[in-house]
Amino acid sequence: MKVLVVGGAGYIGSHAVRECRRCGIQPVIFDNLSTGNALSVEGDDLIQGNLHSARDLRSTFESQAFDAVFHFAASCSVPESMENPALYYHNNVAGTLNLVDAMLAAGVYGDPEETPIPEDHLKRPVNPYGESKLLVEKLLSAIAEKHPLRYIALRYFNAAGADPEGGIGEDHEQESHLIPLIFQTALGLRGTFKIFGTDYETPDGTCIRDFVHVTDIARAHLLALEKMDHLPRCAYNLGSSDGYSVQEVINEAQILSGVTIPVVEEARRDGDPPVLVASNELAGSELGWKPEHSELTEILQTAWKWHSSHPHGFGSPPESHSLGKAGSTELFGDVAVRLGLVSKSDVERALEDQRKEAATGADHKMIGMHMLEMGILSTSQLIEILKHYEQR
Ligand SMILES: NC(=O)c1ccc[n+]([C@@H]2O[C@H](COP(=O)([O-])OP(=O)(O)OC[C@H]3O[C@@H](n4cnc5c(N)ncnc54)[C@H](O)[C@@H]3O)[C@@H](O)[C@H]2O)c1
Repeated sequence: MKVLVVGGAGYIGSHAVRECRRCGIQPVIFDNLSTGNALSVEGDDLIQGNLHSARDLRSTFESQAFDAVFHFAASCSVPESMENPALYYHNNVAGTLNLVDAMLAAGVYGDPEETPIPEDHLKRPVNPYGESKLLVEKLLSAIAEKHPLRYIALRYFNAAGADPEGGIGEDHEQESHLIPLIFQTALGLRGTFKIFGTDYETPDGTCIRDFVHVTDIARAHLLALEKMDHLPRCAYNLGSSDGYSVQEVINEAQILSGVTIPVVEEARRDGDPPVLVASNELAGSELGWKPEHSELTEILQTAWKWHSSHPHGFGSPPESHSLGKAGSTELFGDVAVRLGLVSKSDVERALEDQRKEAATGADHKMIGMHMLEMGILSTSQLIEILKHYEQR
């Protein structure tokens, strides 16, 4: 089976490309590289084309036959959509219409059993970005009434993390997502991390969001493709059913990176609801989808691995893939275990101690200091580990 992955050089698209290969599906990427990166799909078949070029689309569908289309190409920054709504309606709505037109012309809908167009959008749009996504879902529904189009729209919440096998991750020139911003601050690439709103009606006053691992999102597309003819509906939420506050994410990221992240508290932003958590019940019962990597710890571990080894994204020179302390991909605890100075359960105990202390609001301490205080490490052992850690 061959799938055209539109927007496949982007963050979520490149993870879907990997998932296709893991499932024995041949991915072909169509992307104008406006926010995507060719290095994210190195070795894969990449057609550099634009959804606004009828010629690019026509030649793509004329040159080869596809069994299905995954559609990830969009402009997707909420603040930018407030500044420039026309861009969002143009790229997201008109772009999707162009894609659908080209598929119709090429007769891709001829075999509806194998033609999904997974898409995503916000349910109750409060900004032009969300509105453009809703329009896309409406237009797919209207077209499907008149043409033999089969499609599934997947509504993701906060896509996060990076492929557990490494090598790809989130890399946007204008980064607006929480976890990359936190880790870029931890790496010293940004001076401070801004928390927008600390007076929400949530336990710690910061917004609560639903983070879903990007690999889980990618896998849902493969499931939708496999089962689409038997699915009772056209749209599914992809959430983790669990929410974490911005402050909780910062706390965990500090523990994981061993770095105190400088934070500035700012006023609330327009259009940020206090809590956004999706039910994934239907995706579970009908799609058979279950998030496997979406525990916050795994999301953060995979994201940290990516950001610390690629501080400048895909453009990172190889030598910067091993920074000093903050940038090491190997965590302090892992180095200590590798040197035979502690066991994995010692690391777990120290992490637990660190978590408990963080919950009291005490100043953040490196994991090594906890090990020292708990008698797991002697001072000379701590210094030995730090030397190895710094050298990486
Ligand atoms: N990242 C998230 O948390 C999140 C959450 C919900 C929904 N989404 C949706 O998921 C999809 C993918 O998001 P992402 O985070 O991977 O974004 P991204 O910017 O990393 O990827 C989008 C890709 O589409 C390409 N593209 C954009 N316009 C194009 C055009 N006109 N022609 C050809 N290619 C074009 C870009 O070059 C890029 O590679 C988008 O539809 C987005 O709205 C993302």
